[in-house]
Amino acid sequence: MAGNSAKIEAGGGTHDYAVLDGSVGPQVIDIRKLYADTGMFTYDPGFTSTASCDSGLTYIDGDQGILLHRGYPIDQLAEQSSFMEVAYLLLNGELPDKATLDSFVTTISRHTMVHEQLTTFYRGFRRDAHPMAIMCGVVGALSAFYHDSTDINDPLQRKIASHRLIAKMPTLAAMAYKYSVGQPFVYPRNDLSYTANFLRMTFSVPAEEYIPDPVIVDAMDKIFILHADHEQNASTSTVRLAGSSGANPFACIAAGIACLWGPAHGGANEAALNMLREIGTVDKIPEYIARAKNKDDPFRLMGFGHRVYKNYDPRATVMQKTAKDVLEKLGVKDPIFDVAKELEQIALNDPYFIEKKLYPNVDFYSGVILSAIGFPTDMFTVLFALARTVGWVAQWNEMISDPAQKIGRPRQLYTGPTQRDYVPVDKR
Ligand code: SDX
Repeated sequence: MAGNSAKIEAGGGTHDYAVLDGSVGPQVIDIRKLYADTGMFTYDPGFTSTASCDSGLTYIDGDQGILLHRGYPIDQLAEQSSFMEVAYLLLNGELPDKATLDSFVTTISRHTMVHEQLTTFYRGFRRDAHPMAIMCGVVGALSAFYHDSTDINDPLQRKIASHRLIAKMPTLAAMAYKYSVGQPFVYPRNDLSYTANFLRMTFSVPAEEYIPDPVIVDAMDKIFILHADHEQNASTSTVRLAGSSGANPFACIAAGIACLWGPAHGGANEAALNMLREIGTVDKIPEYIARAKNKDDPFRLMGFGHRVYKNYDPRATVMQKTAKDVLEKLGVKDPIFDVAKELEQIALNDPYFIEKKLYPNVDFYSGVILSAIGFPTDMFTVLFALARTVGWVAQWNEMISDPAQKIGRPRQLYTGPTQRDYVPVDKR
């Protein structure tokens, strides 16, 4: 929707560019013709001021600490909805009625098994392989098994591939964990909810049935909701860029998993718990706060800061409450949680963090809960990827079904040598 216009004087002339309004949030200047008009590119490494697309899925107001999925606030969804219902909402745009939700959940349940041949892929990895390395491999390999849902121009194939990815991620993630601990894979069961099924595949052993504790199922489902989607973050942008070339959805999600692994992104949940464990006790906190503020020290407070949130990450608020509830209900006294809360209080009252608007993000408390549930830290980002697959798939569908979408191909500011002639080696 065009509003007023923006004038840019460049390339020897003055040019008008339409200013477009969204339904809420910052306007954008439509500069698609800037290069043709001026011979110049915009320059925005890290895309701090660049909108790569328009989207109706998720809205974030970083200053107010607001996160909406199709207009619904994240705290309401976390408290009142379910991960499967949020998945349906992100994919289809509206909250489903009961019959529709039940049908969606049944469809997803019926796709949770993986081709038996896929199990051999795991055996190629060392037992101590990082589970995210395994996930990068096996999710990309799905495209070798599900050819009948790789034609991105066929809406039905797109739908089946989307359901397959959402359904199979828990199975593949649980298999990655089982492989790392040398236990046999556990098959999914259709009589369990999505999240209970995942917990059973992860923690059940042939010698003893695992009955998912409703407290843990509820906490896990809430954590999945909090990680489902988050606008055009690095891994979602990776999925969109891969998808813009026409790559099949399994390959695109594997690309997203690879990007999420980075400690500046989804890998921060593993790094944050490792950091809290390294700090160990409240009296060590000042030393680490000083390191985080020291420009000469690469150390950063993991789980703190965000490109968009310059206020509290609303997901962190829900996560901290969930951590408190789960620890109390499980009767777990984890000193790390006390260190996390004290670290948060000290940081939030420190001029450095106040001035740079650094607050806890979604990754700061999640590790405390996941550790209490029984996950090893190297599984934390796998769980993030499991949940974010819903957002990646929804964003991929939105992009692919946009008739205006084209291959993403950024330009550059070239700073290398200008043209010069080759010099034979005996003349150098
Ligand atoms: C996720 O984008 C998303 O939406 C991501 C995500 C999602 O759901 O998809 O929300 C998930 O990735 C959450 C973020 C997880 N990462 C971490 O917790 C790692 C620690 N945080 C930082 O690395 C950092 O805050 C980022 C990467 C999250 C954001 O970096 P930006 O936006 O590029 O900000 P910056 O690096 O330019 O930092 C601004 C200033 C810098 O100081 P100056 O150079 O201005 O002096 O703040 C400082 C930074 O040094 N700073 C920190 C800090 N984060 C930023 N200083 C100490 N500790 C930190 N954690």
